[in-house]
Amino acid sequence: MEKFRIRGGNPLKGRVTISGAKNSALPCMTAAILTPETITLHNIPYVRDIITMRRLLEDIGAHVLTPELRTHKISAANIELMAAPYELVKTMRASVLALGPLLARFGKARVSLPGGCAIGARPIDLHLAGLTKMGAEVFLETGDVVARAPADGLRGAEINFEKVSVTGTENLMMAATLARGQTIIHNAAREPEVRDLAELLNKMGARVRGAGTPTIQIDGVEALGGAQHTIIPDRIETGTFIVAAAITKGELEIKDCNPEHCNRVIGKLRDVGVEIEEINQSTLYVRSGPRGLHAGELSTEAYPQFPTDMQAQYMTLMTQANGRSIITETIFENRFMHASELQRMGARIQVSHDQAIVDGPGKLIGARVQASDLRASASLVLAGLVAEGETIIDRVYHIDRGYEKIETKLKAVGADIERVRESVTAPLSSTHDDAAAA
Ligand code: UD1
Repeated sequence: MEKFRIRGGNPLKGRVTISGAKNSALPCMTAAILTPETITLHNIPYVRDIITMRRLLEDIGAHVLTPELRTHKISAANIELMAAPYELVKTMRASVLALGPLLARFGKARVSLPGGCAIGARPIDLHLAGLTKMGAEVFLETGDVVARAPADGLRGAEINFEKVSVTGTENLMMAATLARGQTIIHNAAREPEVRDLAELLNKMGARVRGAGTPTIQIDGVEALGGAQHTIIPDRIETGTFIVAAAITKGELEIKDCNPEHCNRVIGKLRDVGVEIEEINQSTLYVRSGPRGLHAGELSTEAYPQFPTDMQAQYMTLMTQANGRSIITETIFENRFMHASELQRMGARIQVSHDQAIVDGPGKLIGARVQASDLRASASLVLAGLVAEGETIIDRVYHIDRGYEKIETKLKAVGADIERVRESVTAPLSSTHDDAAAA
């Protein structure tokens, strides 16, 4: 099993390049199911979730070529199976994004129901209610969601999301592109990844308007064609490197990012004393401010507010800030698992329900800790970078799901971090069942 060994204390200095957004690449890859023509995607990050999605697409009969490392050419001309199996869904919840496209193009789909996972119950009821409104018959069979469209296909519908759901919005938006008539999605997710997907769909010939706002209108078309698209930069990786620069009292130039997508994160980090300069539309310059870090208050919310996927990293930063910080998690229950690992490193954190109180600054001491989900693992890497002595992070497969070569990128700017393969002495389970988060 692979681990990270980090010796903390080095200020990071230099230049980091941001990869493409995994959360945009995943839905864009499933959009290829909507057409028999080839979809070419550039700037695909080299992370485990992408490999899992590629396997899903190949399992159902699609052909995926990678003429260059970050380019995928996907052809779903010969789909043989309209199903995403449990083995894939349990390791990556985003497999559910195959549901809408399969149903829209082939009139039937079977996707294993994602179970509970490390960051709380994450149902897909909103996806299913929307598809039902579009005329699909949806039922559960041996743990799988089975969906069938009427003989003449899905029909446009007016859908009201009672809760904002990112993949829910994406799934229904894709389903609606081939439905008869108009679909309107109210209370849609406004994430940049939703807008990126809509842009790809429109290049394929879809008629999607309003993506990025709370109301999306989709006029169904007969068929979609091939397209080329470049995936947007990963705003969560960007935020993670901003925190890495600040927490190590270093200075980083962060290249190939989109500062506009990180507005709220940048604002919140400036509030606690991090100096962030926008050099241009794709470059940030970050250093810890002259007066050090001070406590902050944060509540996670759907975009454009502060993302839940940056909450764990912010918590680690606040362990080094002067005063008492209050962090409220409103999106997912049970998303404070990193807190107990940070406590083992000496952080003073009290968690109660959806709130964490962090008292800082306090010295972090290297320890053996365990990654529990993707973003929690990032917060432990950040803690390791500033901790005294050596930190060993177990279960780094979590971080490999969504961060491209994080240790290589960190090492290049001065971190003392290495990936080690160690024989396991503690009874660590290697199950990935708890990995389906984020
Ligand atoms: C996506 C992101 C993930 C991020 C999350 C919130 C991808 C691949 N993943 O996950 O990184 O943490 O958005 O920004 O893009 N909910 C329901 N019923 C549903 C769907 C969702 O109750 O049918 C609830 C969830 O339990 C959660 C909230 O809605 O409390 C938001 O979840 P959602 O936006 O759907 O998260 P994902 O799309 O799975």
